Amino acid sequence: MHLLRLRAMLSTSLRCTWCSPLPSHRLTTKLFSSSSLKYSPWSGLQTWRDSPLNESRIWGPNGPEPPPLLSQPSSIEIGDAPMALGPSSLAELGAMVLSTSDPLTKSKISHIAYSKWRLENLPVGVAEPPGRPARPPKPQLVSPKEIPAPKNSGLPLNAYMLHNLAHVELNAIDLAWDTVVRFSPYCEILGEGFFADFAHVADDESRHFAWCSQRLNELGFKYGDMPAHNLLWRECEKSSDNVAARLAVIPLVQEARGLDAGPRLVQKLIGFGDCRTSNIVARIADEEVAHVAVGVHWFFSVCQQMGRAPCSTFKDLLKEYNVELKGPFNYSARDEAGIPRDWYDMSSTNTQDKNEKLSEVYERLACIISMENENSSLNKPPG
Ligand SMILES: *[C@@H]1O[C@H](CO)[C@@H](O)[C@H](O)[C@H]1NC(C)=O
Ligand SMILES: *[C@@H]1O[C@H](CO)[C@@H](O)[C@H](O)[C@H]1NC(C)=O
Ligand SMILES: *[C@@H]1O[C@H](CO)[C@@H](O)[C@H](O)[C@H]1NC(C)=O
Repeated sequence: MHLLRLRAMLSTSLRCTWCSPLPSHRLTTKLFSSSSLKYSPWSGLQTWRDSPLNESRIWGPNGPEPPPLLSQPSSIEIGDAPMALGPSSLAELGAMVLSTSDPLTKSKISHIAYSKWRLENLPVGVAEPPGRPARPPKPQLVSPKEIPAPKNSGLPLNAYMLHNLAHVELNAIDLAWDTVVRFSPYCEILGEGFFADFAHVADDESRHFAWCSQRLNELGFKYGDMPAHNLLWRECEKSSDNVAARLAVIPLVQEARGLDAGPRLVQKLIGFGDCRTSNIVARIADEEVAHVAVGVHWFFSVCQQMGRAPCSTFKDLLKEYNVELKGPFNYSARDEAGIPRDWYDMSSTNTQDKNEKLSEVYERLACIISMENENSSLNKPPG
């Protein structure tokens, strides 16, 4: 399978470099449009794009609300200095978020960066992302096998689940900004809308992290109180040279997994008796649909530019990047987000090896889901 490298998009003879097995441009266009007939995008996409900046970063007694006016900083207290040094493009602002280690500051700066971009008409610009995003000293990042089981974590089950989700959301902020910054040199090819969408995703995720962090504090804990896993960033690194792979692996696999796992997590929290946390998680899960939908949209767009059929391209990329799909799938949520079923549902194809091992790295919510196997050896505490 020929690699669909973004770099190749820049080479002189596009059709030749992509080595598409399809003989002519006319034919590829035809194939693309016939397969795109199956694509029905999320109906809320345009509304999400047009929505005003969202200041509801606090979880009030009855749900999200803006911070009280008096406490709203006129600019930003933390990060004021670097802001003043004048990142003047979206990509530079994104690089700044990635280089910020304190989680709440990262979350705040994310929102400021996205707001600045929306309000000040900044260009996308070009910047280089750091090799890996800056992180606080705690939580300690360990392999999934070393994550303590709930009963050995020192946290009650609701805080334990929330801590895992907070970790996912913090990673999601960095994943989205990394996509903005890393692919910023290709703005002309991808279009400004690509960057607007992923900066918007980062802003949503930063709000989600703020809610999780607030709720952890209410429960008497904080982000960093137990170890977290180091898997999410690996997927990101693997796909850093190829925009199609990045889209396939992050929004279409990892985030789509959130659609499957989110509602189950909500049920568990209700079962535990923590309705406030379950409401937060339900809202977060709800908002993730937009992020998957954005991934689907841009994946189709990139495939169209490359003259490739989206479904087979998606499957080829997962193979190439060694990412495997595993259910149970929430079909209705995935349908809503616009992921065509034949991209992930292999039940109709008989070539699938039922015993294929699940790649442990792809699950965006690996920790949360693995809790369902709470008693399995996977979750035995280290030592
Ligand atoms: C901001 O997000 C909250 C929580 O998801 C939502 O209830 C609210 O309608 C949003 N506000 C705007 C202006 O989009
Ligand atoms: C699937 O997702 C929807 C939200 O889109 C949710 O209402 C439903 O309960 C989920 N189904 C399952 C089985 O988790
Ligand atoms: C897991 O362990 C708990 C007790 O710690 C027990 O109640 C439960 O039934 C076990 N679940 C499974 C699937 O073995």
